[in-house]
Amino acid sequence: MKFLLATDLDNTLVGDLWATIGLNQRLAAARQQFYLVYATGRSLDSFRQLQQEFHSDTNTQLLEPDYLVAGVGTEIYHQGQLDQEWAAHLSQHWQREAITKIGDNFPALIYQPDTEQNPWKVSYYLQPTAISTPSSFLSAADLQNLPKQKSNKQIIDDLRLQLAAVGLSAQVVFSSNRDVDILPYHGDKGQAVRYLQKKLRVNSQFTLVCGDSGNDITMFQEKTLGVMVGNSQPELLEWHEAHPEAQHYLARSTYANAIWEAIEHFQLLSSP
Ligand code: GLC
Ligand code: MG
Repeated sequence: MKFLLATDLDNTLVGDLWATIGLNQRLAAARQQFYLVYATGRSLDSFRQLQQEFHSDTNTQLLEPDYLVAGVGTEIYHQGQLDQEWAAHLSQHWQREAITKIGDNFPALIYQPDTEQNPWKVSYYLQPTAISTPSSFLSAADLQNLPKQKSNKQIIDDLRLQLAAVGLSAQVVFSSNRDVDILPYHGDKGQAVRYLQKKLRVNSQFTLVCGDSGNDITMFQEKTLGVMVGNSQPELLEWHEAHPEAQHYLARSTYANAIWEAIEHFQLLSSP
């Protein structure tokens, strides 16, 4: 029986070129034993660009996945075709324009380039909060009188509150202390992987999800096996600490090496 490998791309499968090359070779040799899903925040075009870059850097091809989960779970592609059933599912109760109006009202949120937007995903960058005057020039009294800046967490909480207050059905995903994605309530990486598990008829104990940051948390909220790479972002590690599960594995190694470490740990490949 095939297992299902669902992995994030940036800073999980890619990020350490030699590790990616090594894993890609090992997986190519066992390609009949698993379904491969890439679950990324990238768009389809940006994924194709990554494939081309990998090819020109290494003269080898990144494995072609069976399915591409793009835009943080809002789009599913199979052989280059958008899954229309998933698209229709996400379109229910989704009001992109109204959501964008609310997001645009936050001065700290910068709308991401159009290439990163899609009909079911509104994405921003959260501007780093900075005090422009070096604090060494300010007296203790001046410091006390500085207008209080909102923390990143407060801004994200505010955004969630404002969306909920006007009854907009959406979820806000915060990653790498920078990326803010507003997604349909029913559309994220975790729910997309669950949809594919059903389609492919693979049970959770034969599904391994791999990730490094906040936009991967929904995958770990499913009942599957999971590996957090050794270079994971604090938000994922904090979530893991707060929600420890026996089927979640924190790898010692980083990037793609961590994926191999987990495949061995969970004994997912039968030996040749
Ligand atoms: C990718 C996407 C970006 C998103 C981020 C986090 O970088 O291009 O739109 O905000 O992932 O999910
Ligand atoms: Mg990542």
